[in-house]
Amino acid sequence: MNKPDVTGFFDPATYTISYIVADPETQACAIIDSLLDFDQASGRTSTASADKLINVVKARGLNCEWIIDTHVHADHLTAAPYIREQLGGKTAIGAHVSTVQKVFSSIFNEGQSFHTDGSQFDHLFEEGETYHIGKLSGRAIHTPGHTPACMSHVIGDAVFVGDTLFMPDYGTARCDFPGGDAGTLFDSIQRLFELPDETRMFLCHDYLPQGRDQYVWETTVGAQKRGNIHVKAGTSREAFIEMRTARDATLAMPQLILPSVQINMRAGHMPPPEANGQSYMKLPINML
Ligand SMILES: [Fe+2]
Repeated sequence: MNKPDVTGFFDPATYTISYIVADPETQACAIIDSLLDFDQASGRTSTASADKLINVVKARGLNCEWIIDTHVHADHLTAAPYIREQLGGKTAIGAHVSTVQKVFSSIFNEGQSFHTDGSQFDHLFEEGETYHIGKLSGRAIHTPGHTPACMSHVIGDAVFVGDTLFMPDYGTARCDFPGGDAGTLFDSIQRLFELPDETRMFLCHDYLPQGRDQYVWETTVGAQKRGNIHVKAGTSREAFIEMRTARDATLAMPQLILPSVQINMRAGHMPPPEANGQSYMKLPINML
């Protein structure tokens, strides 16, 4: 059996879905795209959302082997270090995180003490790398475009695509962050479309488009190929780039991009404390 038991947790503040992906046979599990609540006005974090997920892992007697982020999120903070402390497991992200770290280390003027080699994470996935969650087999696929380091994870009969595709009626992820590229995202989506049509596909966000009254985060590869409003089977690369670029030009920066990137590029750790023992985040002025 290679069919993971998947539980999604929706965060209404950032429209993010975090997942527990469990092996029904061995009780091993992975956490994908965890979330640390952050109130920007007060600068205060909370583990309320992460605790909900942790409580389910504990109640079901699951053993956490992996804490995976599909990419350096720009709209929420990862709870990876907190989850590791509470449940164990290895934190992991795509190896191209070093590219993202280089870009943002220059934007935030990080000093030499900030390493841009991904060493803040326990593990860096390479393109095509295979791994295990108990007896489930996982495979990392490099799917850049939204960011240079985005990885999708094929786990048994399911694929976790992070921010590449959203539900068919909402479309695709934006490509206008530093290092993003619409043509590259199109190419990555073609790779996802090579998976069997019946593959269950789990998304990192749902924004409840007009005409729907419920948040949904599961679809299939076949459903995307048949009906994604931005890119279905037969959509040309040129048409996609034109649509995506025009749409991105209308989008505001996500509310939490500056806090999120500063923390997530550090694998979820806060910046080192200053002389008074307090940790701070920066807001670069007129840069993004
Ligand atoms: Fe994202």
